[in-house]
Amino acid sequence: MDTISVGILGATAYTGLELARILTRHAGVAISFVSSRSYAGQTLSAVFPELSGLCDQTLLSLDEAGKRDVDCLFSCLPHAVSAQYCTPFLKKGTRVIDLSADFRVKDPAVYKKWYEVDVCDLDALRRAAFGLPERYRDQIRTAPLTANPGCYPTSIMLPLVPLLQKHTLSMIIADSKSGVSGAGRALKLSSHFVEANENVTAYSIGHTHRHVSEIEQELSAAAGKPTTITFSPHLIPMSRGILSTIYFQAPLSAADCTAIVSDAYAEEPFARVRPTGVLPRISDVRGTNFCDIGFTGGESGQPLIAVSVIDNLLKGASGQAVQNMNIMFGFDERAGLC
Ligand SMILES: NC(=O)c1ccc[n+]([C@@H]2O[C@H](COP(=O)([O-])OP(=O)(O)OC[C@H]3O[C@@H](n4cnc5c(N)ncnc54)[C@H](OP(=O)(O)O)[C@@H]3O)[C@@H](O)[C@H]2O)c1
Repeated sequence: MDTISVGILGATAYTGLELARILTRHAGVAISFVSSRSYAGQTLSAVFPELSGLCDQTLLSLDEAGKRDVDCLFSCLPHAVSAQYCTPFLKKGTRVIDLSADFRVKDPAVYKKWYEVDVCDLDALRRAAFGLPERYRDQIRTAPLTANPGCYPTSIMLPLVPLLQKHTLSMIIADSKSGVSGAGRALKLSSHFVEANENVTAYSIGHTHRHVSEIEQELSAAAGKPTTITFSPHLIPMSRGILSTIYFQAPLSAADCTAIVSDAYAEEPFARVRPTGVLPRISDVRGTNFCDIGFTGGESGQPLIAVSVIDNLLKGASGQAVQNMNIMFGFDERAGLC
């Protein structure tokens, strides 16, 4: 396939930096433009000096970016902002990969309940593929728009979906820990060094975090019936990485879970399953697009336990976005990512 042109909205995001890093070494891609709200007129490498000599393009304003034509657009803008900038590109026929939550939740009423805004573009929402390649590769291949999943949801869906497709799981509880980059680059008190360092903070626990909406949507779709989750995220003093410990009841052993999920992901380039009882660590996947999964527990009526790890900025965001681009444009799925 020939080289494709791509644009990045919100290139000054942490996810934008990761995209630029990956795409500058992707042989099939030329970055046509990068854009920013606050840094328009500066070069991307002035904002992120590590990109010097790799991506020295001048950041366009979002309005200027909207006048450009590219084969593929990535949006790293926040939810409720992203969709309004993606829609004009979709109307021009550009294929779009949105890293925000704006096109992930299929039911507009559910999106409104959790995000407290209306869906901006119902037509685009209907045509969007949910960008979890291990589940929706065929839809992603031809979709005009791919809604890249959230980081916590990716870490929870990948171990559970193959199990739910075959068995009933109940009492699902996910306890997740995320590094501080999960909150983005914008200044906020909870991300300050003194607040986050040598500290662990539970937030939006139980059934209150917005990611519950897409997690329950996808677990229910896999199970073929409504499936709920208790989801408790925690902020930990690391720059990047997510570890999810997921408890559930099922008529299975940990070895059964290992066998089912290993079988489901036997051909997957970025999902790896450990032997039963061997649990992955964040350091095993940091800087990679892998999701590593291990199962344990289940003896004497105790819950089964899955542990999964991802790099939130890669398999949880920009790595998965490039994996989706590779699928959409017929590249080797590993291109730029290995
Ligand atoms: N961080 C993660 O681990 C992660 C994982 C999965 C998905 N996501 C999603 O990916 C997207 C980017 O996340 P991030 O953490 O990389 O974000 P971030 O570091 O906070 O950056 C956000 C970007 O959006 C721009 N922006 C913010 N508010 C804007 C507004 N009102 N109008 C126009 N532009 C605006 C910023 O522009 P300027 O800097 O130029 O002002 C910046 O480029 C979000 O939707 C997020 O939910 C993030």
